[in-house]
Amino acid sequence: MSSSGYIYNACVATCDPKVPGAYGRLQNANVVWQDGLIHYVGVEPYTSKGFAGERINAHGRLVTPGFIDCHTHAVYAGDRAQEFERRLRGESYAAIAASGGGIAHTVAATRKASIATLLSLAETRLARLMQSGVTSVEVKSGYGLDYDNEIKILETIQALNGRLPLHVFATCLAAHTLPEGFDGDHDSYIDWVCEGLLPEVKRRNLARAVDVFCESIAFNLDQGRRLFCKARELGFAIKGHVEQLSQSYGTDLICEFNGVSADHLEYLEGSQVQKMKAAGVTAVLLPGAYYFLQESRCPPVALLRQHRVPMAIATDMNPGSSPLFSITSAANMACVQFGLSLDEALLGITRHGAKALGLEQSKGMLKQGMDADVLLWPVDSPANIIYESPSVAPEKIWISGTLYDADVGASRGMS
Ligand code: NIG
Ligand code: FE
Repeated sequence: MSSSGYIYNACVATCDPKVPGAYGRLQNANVVWQDGLIHYVGVEPYTSKGFAGERINAHGRLVTPGFIDCHTHAVYAGDRAQEFERRLRGESYAAIAASGGGIAHTVAATRKASIATLLSLAETRLARLMQSGVTSVEVKSGYGLDYDNEIKILETIQALNGRLPLHVFATCLAAHTLPEGFDGDHDSYIDWVCEGLLPEVKRRNLARAVDVFCESIAFNLDQGRRLFCKARELGFAIKGHVEQLSQSYGTDLICEFNGVSADHLEYLEGSQVQKMKAAGVTAVLLPGAYYFLQESRCPPVALLRQHRVPMAIATDMNPGSSPLFSITSAANMACVQFGLSLDEALLGITRHGAKALGLEQSKGMLKQGMDADVLLWPVDSPANIIYESPSVAPEKIWISGTLYDADVGASRGMS
């Protein structure tokens, strides 16, 4: 299959900060790629003599970079519909977790599932995500919480890379919650993650990053610090679930370790925003979790904007706090609930999403030398994609320059 192509007569959202305008918009523009990489983006006609790839007339429609979902928990078994019902009756996420439900419920179901089952479930979910324009996705472990099951999930994530055209990036979230059998001893569990799990994950190259849930119902700052020390020693990127249900100061820890992202952030405060700016940490907003948990406190978007901290948006796809399978719906929620502008939302699922994964050199922009992950839309403005989400799907999807069926979800038994 050819990995070269030439789109002309397009409205191009380059998302390149060097191109003027909010998202680097070019009218009547061309996008050319060869051998999987972007070769030319601009309004000058491209001299295509000898060019062997596909040529597509966009007829003025929108072309964007492939979307990036930088925070998901897509590998799990079972569902938490009953817990959803309990929450609707007024029980809190933390109270359900304390009664043995929540993450522990999904851990029990996931431990029972084989790799084949997990693979097929996750494949269906990621295919759905791809229908909303996602070409790169981060997937976390964290529903195994023992050696065999964390490795099983990470192997499943690795196998997803070959099963779907999307780029899949794995994160180890063994520090998600304390599993049964540790009798309240969080310190011993973190010791085991550091000494018994992470070295093997590194040796087998099963994850790029290490994550922690820093919260009163999960792990404290000291435990987070020990985990990050080991992660840094082994060369993992660092990120965390922080300031979600209370001010945990996990963000300060991530800044101390020059992590790539701090995620959730409903309880983030001003001094922490300044630290994020200084340390180059990307804010990952997860409006799906805010919505499903019926939170009332929003992340401090105005402060993040004022201090120019890049804001990424992700689905947080998981069975408990965010059963959400569309990145454009996450973008919609970030606008409606958190007050992001449409331009900020588009950057949140492109350039800033790439930065949250440490991939800003290769993804999230249409610019010479970047990976040719390209979407052609049936509309001519990002507003239409986000406003009518999830009903607007890309017409064509190229990943590393190769054309894939935008309806990949349908071909896997989805409607
Ligand atoms: O990002 N906050 C912790 N972890 C997930 C929820 C996982 C679950 O409830 O299963 C989150 O919201
Ligand atoms: Fe999460």
